Amino acid sequence: MDICIIGAGYVGLTTAAVLADIGHTVYCTDVDEEKIKKLQQGIIPIYEPGLTEMIAKNQEKGKLFFDTDSKRYMADCPCIMIAVGTPSAKNGSADMVYVKGVIDALSQTIRTPKIIILKSTVPPGTADWIEADLQRQGVDKRLFEIVSNPEFLREGTAIEDTVHPDRIVIGAKQSEAALKVQELYQNLQTQFLITDRLEAELIKYASNAFLATKISFINEIARICDAYHADIMEVSRGIGMDRRIGPRFLQAGLGYGGSCFPKDVNALNYVAAAKDIQLDLVQAVKKINRSQVDIYLNKITHSLGKRSDKPRIAVWGATFKENTDDIRYSQAIVLMKKLIRKGYQVYAYDPLVSPKLSSVVWCSNPYEAVEQADLLVVATAWSAFLEADWDRVKALMKRPVIVDGRNCLNRKTVEMYGFEYVGVGRP
Ligand code: UDX
Repeated sequence: MDICIIGAGYVGLTTAAVLADIGHTVYCTDVDEEKIKKLQQGIIPIYEPGLTEMIAKNQEKGKLFFDTDSKRYMADCPCIMIAVGTPSAKNGSADMVYVKGVIDALSQTIRTPKIIILKSTVPPGTADWIEADLQRQGVDKRLFEIVSNPEFLREGTAIEDTVHPDRIVIGAKQSEAALKVQELYQNLQTQFLITDRLEAELIKYASNAFLATKISFINEIARICDAYHADIMEVSRGIGMDRRIGPRFLQAGLGYGGSCFPKDVNALNYVAAAKDIQLDLVQAVKKINRSQVDIYLNKITHSLGKRSDKPRIAVWGATFKENTDDIRYSQAIVLMKKLIRKGYQVYAYDPLVSPKLSSVVWCSNPYEAVEQADLLVVATAWSAFLEADWDRVKALMKRPVIVDGRNCLNRKTVEMYGFEYVGVGRP
């Protein structure tokens, strides 16, 4: 099938690459001319393992194209997928300005029957609203069907998650439209859930809020482990062995960040409040996540003790998680800002990014960052950090103390090298 994808962000690009790879002809469009020019030359604007290769392969095969002329492809393709961003507005709601822009463009182009797939994460009722808006703008209802088809990919493993999803959720008013969307993915081995549009929209918000809840829950249990000198890693393993709970997203650490959890948790709160529902649990999830960085800050201050000089802290990792160059809502950055505010010197290193942050000194490798450091914080679980040359690190540091912000290091190994290890919920 010929598919027009609107939005060449994380979701749009990955979906475009995978749909082209399984045999469709995909036209991915974006308003950003610079981005499209680069994509046409095979330069990918984000770091995502495997994405560059998959895009290049399908461009070569004549299955994947990038263009700024979205109206042309909206008019030509029978299937249009909306994958534009829905960032957090000031009041916590999802900002629908980009979606609205696409709908206005669509209203001017629909002349033949279209399936419009809503991939962007949107509040419940959006598909209905789009349907009404298109009709209000004079588009004949018989010419289009809106289908909600949320995306569950994670940055860093986006290709794997799109090729082998746990499930594909398709929310449609008519079963014919749902089946057409199911056909798009027929070459993927997965299970399909065909449901109504409102339910599909809510599944996305509820999934992200639930995963964020798992993380805040384990971080709260880690606080109890700290108080009782118990090991959260063991507690987490034991909890996860219960198939009703499952082992994933039970890794205690600095808390969650990224482009989805913080924004979607806020948006869920907003849509609930609009119906006079107070989400106590979701509020608590946010609160725990916010205070998680302070737990580490206290550990750092405690380890450094009272000092007359300005302690030097090395921070490894700035992205919100490993294998991405995304720093949106990164807890590592929140921590760096708080360290600076406390009056510490911060020397940081990340394998991919060095964002402008007042008073943070960016280093060109992890070893440069630890020179003369009083303490090292591992804030993102990049594999390069897990496999560091600990002998070298120890020789460079002033005090051999490691604060493991992701409980990701092999504690026995670093202790063997003579470091003092501080995690969260680690006795
Ligand atoms: C998330 C959802 O997983 C995905 O389904 C949705 O489509 C988009 O949002 P993403 O934000 O890319 O994906 O990454 P994810 O792996 O979910 O991690 C989110 C944050 O939680 C990261 O900051 C990560 O470090 C943190 N995290 C994750 C934990 O602190 N503990 C865990 O056990 C898992």
